[in-house]
Amino acid sequence: MNTGKLGSKVLRWLGFAAAGLLFAASAQAAVSGITTTKHNLSTTGTGSGTRVNSNSGTDQICVFCHTPHGSNTTAAVPLWNKTIPTTAVFTSYATLQTSSLNGEMLAVGSVSQACLSCHDGTQAMDNMMNAPGAGTAQTGTWNWTGANQTGGLLKAGIITNIGEDLRNDHPIGIQYCGGGLTGSGTTVSGTCADGDFINAGTVPISTTSDGRTATFKTATINNNKVFWIDLDGNSTRGKADINLYTRSFTGGANTPSVECGSCHDPHVASKDQDNIMFMRVTTAGSKICLSCHVK
Ligand code: HEC
Ligand code: HEC
Ligand code: HEC
Ligand code: HEC
Repeated sequence: MNTGKLGSKVLRWLGFAAAGLLFAASAQAAVSGITTTKHNLSTTGTGSGTRVNSNSGTDQICVFCHTPHGSNTTAAVPLWNKTIPTTAVFTSYATLQTSSLNGEMLAVGSVSQACLSCHDGTQAMDNMMNAPGAGTAQTGTWNWTGANQTGGLLKAGIITNIGEDLRNDHPIGIQYCGGGLTGSGTTVSGTCADGDFINAGTVPISTTSDGRTATFKTATINNNKVFWIDLDGNSTRGKADINLYTRSFTGGANTPSVECGSCHDPHVASKDQDNIMFMRVTTAGSKICLSCHVK
């Protein structure tokens, strides 16, 4: 019996299989999505201290934030499936009156208001405009499990419960670059009021202090002005870029604002090696901070 030949066939097959596995693993790493993050609040959630109980609830993931129909049009976020908190409940960072803040701060709005619809700790995570299944109402009572929640609300006193006092959080709803852009305000040639930021203008700052290429960009899409800091060099807005959100300040209509979504992408585990915090740019070496601040 010629086992040698069979052996080499087996080896070859094993080789293919191993290559296939490697390919599958790397392909998975590239698309590694929301399923394994803390934002999978469904019965399939694994990485979270908070999810609906596996005996009840739903295995749908997106539904806790988005619905294809009947979404909330008062929220400046795509197809939002929750009520958003009123702005009046929040204490603004600006009331801290630090001596260094230059930019104008708006009331909580834009994507930040959507994040805070769970992270202010006042609204249950299964409070949806359109619950899964036919009709809009949720069937049955869902049980929540995990140490970081109480009755489906983020538990009081934990760090992920940002709360309504925003004085202890990085400013949001703040004009980008220390008082906005000078000049026409909305053009990419507008210069930062404060030069300590990644900048366009006549003397652009397009290198981060840790040596990465970063370009302040603007474009018009469907007649809307959009802004971002391009970090991957491909000139289009992407998940690895810093998103700046378009809002109207006294100092400039439709100008760039820093919001929760500037630093975080709620769908992807971070670019960080420890795979947490939904960062658009890694916290390693404070790269995330240096993507805007020139320090
Ligand atoms: C925990 C809340 C949350 C969950 C769960 C969630 N999203 Fe989102 N999603 C958001 C927020 C907030 C935005 C707006 C982000 C922004 O403006 O930068 C968004 C934006 C989007 C966008 C447009 C921008 C982009 O990043 O491409 C798409 C498409 C999207 N979500 C699809 C999905 C799908 C599909 C699922 C389920 C597999 C899902 N989302 C689950 C919060 C969520
Ligand atoms: C998306 C851009 C962006 C990123 C990323 C960013 N910041 Fe900021 N930061 C700003 C803007 C804009 C201001 C407001 C500056 C002003 O108006 O004076 C600011 C203000 C600050 C202030 C001063 C607040 C004051 O009262 O004067 C500190 C401190 C700060 N950021 C630290 C950080 C740290 C630490 C990180 C990383 C964890 C970080 N920032 C990431 C844009 C950013
Ligand atoms: C539907 C409710 C919901 C919404 C909306 C939501 N989150 Fe979360 N988020 C959670 C829960 C639950 C956790 C896990 C909390 C815990 O275990 O302490 C979490 C955790 C996080 C964490 C910590 C991740 C980690 O690895 O520790 C970050 C960062 C975060 N969310 C950012 C955001 C941002 C930014 C938005 C808006 C773009 C957002 N979230 C919208 C429910 C939500
Ligand atoms: C300027 C950048 C920036 C902005 C804006 C920002 N975050 Fe964060 N956030 C971070 C960084 C960096 C971390 C990681 C902190 C750490 O490593 O402890 C973080 C951590 C978190 C965490 C986890 C806290 C922990 O220590 O476990 C939550 C939840 C969170 N952010 C939610 C939000 C929400 C909601 C908003 C808007 C209201 C927001 N973030 C705005 C940079 C930002």
